[in-house]
Amino acid sequence: MICKSFKDKEKMRRAGRSAATVLDRLCKLVKPGMSTLELDELGGELMKEIGVKSACKGYRSGHRVFPSYTCLSVNEEVVHGIGVEERILQEGDVISVDVCIREDGMIGDNCRTVPVGMVSPELSRLLKVTEESLYLGLSQALHKNRIGDVSEAVQSHVEKAGFAVITNFVGHGVGRSLHEDPQIPNFGKAGTGSKFKKGMAICIEPMVNMKSSQIRMAKDGWTALAVDGFPSAHFEHTLLVDEGKPEILTIPEGYGEAEDFFTSKLAEVA
Ligand code: MF3
Ligand code: CO
Repeated sequence: MICKSFKDKEKMRRAGRSAATVLDRLCKLVKPGMSTLELDELGGELMKEIGVKSACKGYRSGHRVFPSYTCLSVNEEVVHGIGVEERILQEGDVISVDVCIREDGMIGDNCRTVPVGMVSPELSRLLKVTEESLYLGLSQALHKNRIGDVSEAVQSHVEKAGFAVITNFVGHGVGRSLHEDPQIPNFGKAGTGSKFKKGMAICIEPMVNMKSSQIRMAKDGWTALAVDGFPSAHFEHTLLVDEGKPEILTIPEGYGEAEDFFTSKLAEVA
């Protein structure tokens, strides 16, 4: 894991902001009656509009190539869902919108789970708890802290709420590649693991299931599903490790300063 140079940090700030702007705009387009393929194509158009490329489309894992611009995971789909014509969003669903772009060589990666119309109170609570766990994790991603500090902050908040963290997928370092060292698990013990250093770029991304933490793979070879069919949530930011506060890179245009954004999000945590 390399700490980013001044130039690369500037590029990552731009890539992060673009990824966040696409995610923010795309989430606002989510409506009942729309197919996930339509939503993915809108994501592709938004990327084109602001002059960035999808880092998902064409992503390789072994012999498999990811086909969509974005990852769209509905209800029991945990991550890496593919937009398809047959999946029509229904009032009461939740959808995880994962936007990962490349700009000037660097990656920006972020995700948010949003309700489709009105959702049940229990689903709202799942989204709230998962988002809160992201900000609690972020608050531990500081120079000289350890990876396990983030992991425990995420896991303990999720489990106190009665939900389960996914262990098959983890957060990660990021830069010129989407997945760099180190891995940032959403489970573990504070005080363990390697130390964060100022200037590291990482993604923290809690994935939380309502009941069982177990997943299985769908036939498409990409989509991870909650084994029990209950819904799942996923929130992610890209950040630069710093002292005192993390520098969140995936804040959309028009949302003010990174510091204020983080402080107000953290203040909302119950
Ligand atoms: N945010 C996702 C991740 O870090 C993006 C995956 S892109 C895909 O895994 F192509 F692998 F789907
Ligand atoms: Co990621």
